[in-house]
Amino acid sequence: MAQLLHLEGIDSVVLEDRSREYVEQRIRAGVLEQGTVDLLHEIGVGERLGREGLVHDGIEIQFAGERHRIDFASLTGGRRITVYGQQEIVKDLIAARLETGRPLHFEANRVQVDEFESETPVVRFRHDGEDVELRCDFIAGCDGFRGVCRDSIPAGVLRTFDREYPFAWLGILAAAPPSNEELIYAYHERGFALHSMRSPTLTRLYLQVRPDEELTEWPDERIWDELEHRLGLEGWTLNTGEILEKGVTELRSFVVEPMQCGRLILAGDAAHIVPATGAKGLNLAVADVRLLASAIAAWYRNGDVSLLERYSSDALRRVWRAEHFSWFMTSMLHRLEGGDEFDVKLQLAQLAYVCSSEKAAASLAENYVGLEHV
Ligand code: PHB
Repeated sequence: MAQLLHLEGIDSVVLEDRSREYVEQRIRAGVLEQGTVDLLHEIGVGERLGREGLVHDGIEIQFAGERHRIDFASLTGGRRITVYGQQEIVKDLIAARLETGRPLHFEANRVQVDEFESETPVVRFRHDGEDVELRCDFIAGCDGFRGVCRDSIPAGVLRTFDREYPFAWLGILAAAPPSNEELIYAYHERGFALHSMRSPTLTRLYLQVRPDEELTEWPDERIWDELEHRLGLEGWTLNTGEILEKGVTELRSFVVEPMQCGRLILAGDAAHIVPATGAKGLNLAVADVRLLASAIAAWYRNGDVSLLERYSSDALRRVWRAEHFSWFMTSMLHRLEGGDEFDVKLQLAQLAYVCSSEKAAASLAENYVGLEHV
């Protein structure tokens, strides 16, 4: 957001709750849509992404003991995804920000946003042992699902739409070369598993677990056994290595409408989250700030408020499409605890359909690589 504004000649102050080390190391998402990659190039932070990003032309879906490839490039007229860690994008953006000389404050805490229903909103925060009060034209609430911005909006303004799923993901990052060229989404009677990667020497793997699962229940050996079980196929070996990171991620769908209250405007996870199965979270955040930065730029250029007034409804069209896609992928691929054979048969029928019908595969593919127009 700050880089987009900077390129429009608009100043901003970026407040980050955590330290630079923390945000540069924390393992998050890793699948970039074509549109996200294009934007990062346009704003001048695509150089390392172009060198180190792993371009993928498809994914594989595994069920009933077989793997099926969904070929994005042929189904979408050449669109692709790129695997590049979110924390790598964060590093590139921080470097670009520092180069502009514009303010970026790490470990800014006790952040409060106020008076955003006036023309001069205020942000208060503590940084370097000092209390700071900042008047501005707009506050972009890009502070994530647990940030302060959304919760500062008075009761009654926002409507919330929410769904929790009865499972979570246990994710690991391992010092092992990926065992497959492509990502593998596996539906298995013991639960969903996903093979992904971050680089030619780092594998990212996930297992469906219960939401209340404790990491202590999952010693390394049990994780590898379970991955082997769910992802394994004859003639294929899962590469193993030291587990560098282990964590449990909840799966949840959540949207607030509108994404705005006066001059406090929400973007990304502050306004909506998706279950990770569709790999949409980071991409939605990027799509939001693209819209928001153009709307703010139009306002500074000639006082045009039309894009700002439409921001929420414009952004929410893509958000709801991605909410549906993420729910669809999640429902198709996870075992439902307490589900019956009817649920299983429906899932298998849907899996067979997306892996055998070119039209069904094309629908999955165009959503996965990211729709150009929503
Ligand atoms: C990941 O690599 O972290 C990843 C990939 C695909 C997903 C979710 C997460 O759907």
